[in-house]
Amino acid sequence: MRNWFRNKKQKYKYISNPKFKSNKHNTAEEFLLNVDEENNRDAISDTAEIIKINWKENYKMKKKRKKDSNIHLQNNPEYVIELKNVFKSYPISRNEVTPILKGVDLKIKRGEFVILFGKSGSGKSTLLNIMSGLDRANHGDVIVENTNLPYLSNEELTKFRRRHVAFIFQQYHLLNNITGYENVETGLILQKHKDRKNFNIKKAFEEFDLLDVIDKYPSQMSGGQQQRISIIRALAKNADIIFADEPTSALDKKTGVAVMELLRKINQEKGTTIVMVSHDPDVIQYANRKIFLNKGTIINDEKVR
Ligand SMILES: Nc1ncnc2c1ncn2[C@@H]1O[C@H](COP(=O)(O)OP(=O)(O)OP(=O)(O)O)[C@@H](O)[C@H]1O
Ligand SMILES: [Mg+2]
Repeated sequence: MRNWFRNKKQKYKYISNPKFKSNKHNTAEEFLLNVDEENNRDAISDTAEIIKINWKENYKMKKKRKKDSNIHLQNNPEYVIELKNVFKSYPISRNEVTPILKGVDLKIKRGEFVILFGKSGSGKSTLLNIMSGLDRANHGDVIVENTNLPYLSNEELTKFRRRHVAFIFQQYHLLNNITGYENVETGLILQKHKDRKNFNIKKAFEEFDLLDVIDKYPSQMSGGQQQRISIIRALAKNADIIFADEPTSALDKKTGVAVMELLRKINQEKGTTIVMVSHDPDVIQYANRKIFLNKGTIINDEKVR
């Protein structure tokens, strides 16, 4: 009875709210949806720039890009990643967006080790997600491994990621219901070349001082152990490009150094291209290029080695 009364009262509140009428929502659900979106806007930041757009444009942004002549653009042979005038906005409500990347141009050669720096909220993770096919740019070309990514459907993007890239995240993202060994095995299964015999999982665990957790589940391991396993998984996948978003920020100094040395080894011995986001200036020594992002544009791009 009390619940019924509460529901009645809430319903009355929605209907009596002037916004409900002025926005011409047909149902209370639509109104609630709008309230959620408005809360979402507050959560982003007081200073976030907001642009009004037609809701149809907003809707189109979620889909793969319509075919045009740029769909077949390929990489200049010198580069493996090329971004040309890339823009990315996130929808805040039906007809409002907040711009995050504002015209990014970037070219990365095969075998480079690039570190992206910049203040929190400057768009580093967004840029990494767009380069790695986890998200789509709204405008501009993102050509990676001879594929212009914004034109791919979600399924095609999944296939692209499976074939070409490996990820290392701040929060490891290991599968919790399988052991350390099995987690690394998933990397082998997803391997592009299917040359599984070449990778000895046990040896890799030995090399990274992880033999005692080989049959343990992630919840039974320390953060550093989980992160090293997520790196072995990325290694086992033998991908052409590794994307890493703050892989050392949850680790202590010593483990962080071990992880960075490991990444440098992969980069130097296998020629794997690495694009990594970091807040720690000490990691510059491992890279050959550092890029600074500010408010969605690249403000500095320097070779360091
Ligand atoms: N899905 C989303 N919807 C709306 N806004 C988003 C979304 N993802 C990110 N943003 C906003 O985009 C901006 C850039 O986010 P991003 O995660 O790229 O920043 P970052 O440079 O990686 O920051 P940090 O160093 O804190 O990880 C932030 O203001 C964030 O709130
Ligand atoms: Mg980030």
